[in-house]
Amino acid sequence: MQPAITYRLIKKEKHTGARLGEITTPHGTFRTPIFMPVGTQATVKTLAPEELDKMGATIVLANTYHLWLRPGEDIVKEAGGLHKFMNWHKGLLTDSGGFQVFSLAKNRDITEQGVTFKNELNGSRMFLSPEKAIQIENDLGPDIMMSLDECPPFFESYDYVKKSVERTSRWAERGLKAHRNPDTQGLFGIVQGAGFEDLRQQSAKDLVSLDFPGYSIGGLSVGESKTEMNRILEATTPLLPENKPRYLMGVGVTDSLIDGVIRGIDMFDCVLPTRIARNGTVMTSHGRLVVKNAQFARDFTPLDDQCDCYTCRNYTRAYIRHLIKADETFGLRLCSYHNLYYLIHLMKRVQQAIMDDNLLDLRAEVFEQYG
Ligand code: GUN
Ligand code: ZN
Repeated sequence: MQPAITYRLIKKEKHTGARLGEITTPHGTFRTPIFMPVGTQATVKTLAPEELDKMGATIVLANTYHLWLRPGEDIVKEAGGLHKFMNWHKGLLTDSGGFQVFSLAKNRDITEQGVTFKNELNGSRMFLSPEKAIQIENDLGPDIMMSLDECPPFFESYDYVKKSVERTSRWAERGLKAHRNPDTQGLFGIVQGAGFEDLRQQSAKDLVSLDFPGYSIGGLSVGESKTEMNRILEATTPLLPENKPRYLMGVGVTDSLIDGVIRGIDMFDCVLPTRIARNGTVMTSHGRLVVKNAQFARDFTPLDDQCDCYTCRNYTRAYIRHLIKADETFGLRLCSYHNLYYLIHLMKRVQQAIMDDNLLDLRAEVFEQYG
């Protein structure tokens, strides 16, 4: 049986741990490293699937937690699965809901069996177990799904994190056993372990012995410094198999993307580009720009003079600022489009730099421009 998700290593960069690769899913093949737009509620906020396709997105995220609470995975299944439901026919990945339960839900209680919490929409008690998360993800039908994990705070005690990592490994194994569609959906394990290198390594070894088609690294970008994130990545990625993809969850700031790639990461996602866009902030090759600020009222240049996206080819800072000030949603759409395009195309430049063995030059250029 051919697994649902395969990774082919094309080339390693000469001076860093960066990898140019190719992931094949039932909904298409794409080159890595890659940035994946986030569509928590089965929509990338403000954008149509046709627009994501046009900007070069090849895989997007959705969330098990949110879609389980609303509309319910039974409705998505009845619609013919998530691809059909949201009219997106390229790659789809769902997070397991673990992270959202820990970051969003109130009154949560975690045991060996799973996690109980209060449904924020109607107040009812909900129970999410590793098996339940897999059942929901099987019903939703994305190409890549995540195991249920616990994401402990980065500065949690050693004893707690050790117990948590061991439980996350047992949950990963239970999820693997409950998975009904391994030939059409690839299930990833999630490495945890907060800031402790030995626990990260234990977590990685446990999960690698379970032989997942890919590995995620969670519990990062949760308030620790960039140095600490890099230290944890350096302790973790060498233990992951070369012939499987590695996904750094929730990371989408420009410098961390490049520093993650340098340490062997292939996939990234983050709400940041779409979230700041809706706040009138854009990412440019000269750093972040708050386009809604008064200083752009008469600025008839594009958001980024080095960008050739739809927004930058057709609209000015002055016009976009006007739309945002007038509460017109088109302004938020134009900023969201540009920000996602910016990161997707930054990763294309990263891929080329791996090919040309000059990723450190690109890093220096991006870091300098970003100030
Ligand atoms: N998204 C960002 N970080 C995490 C994590 O640690 N676990 C999960 N499941 N999702 C995440
Ligand atoms: Zn642009």
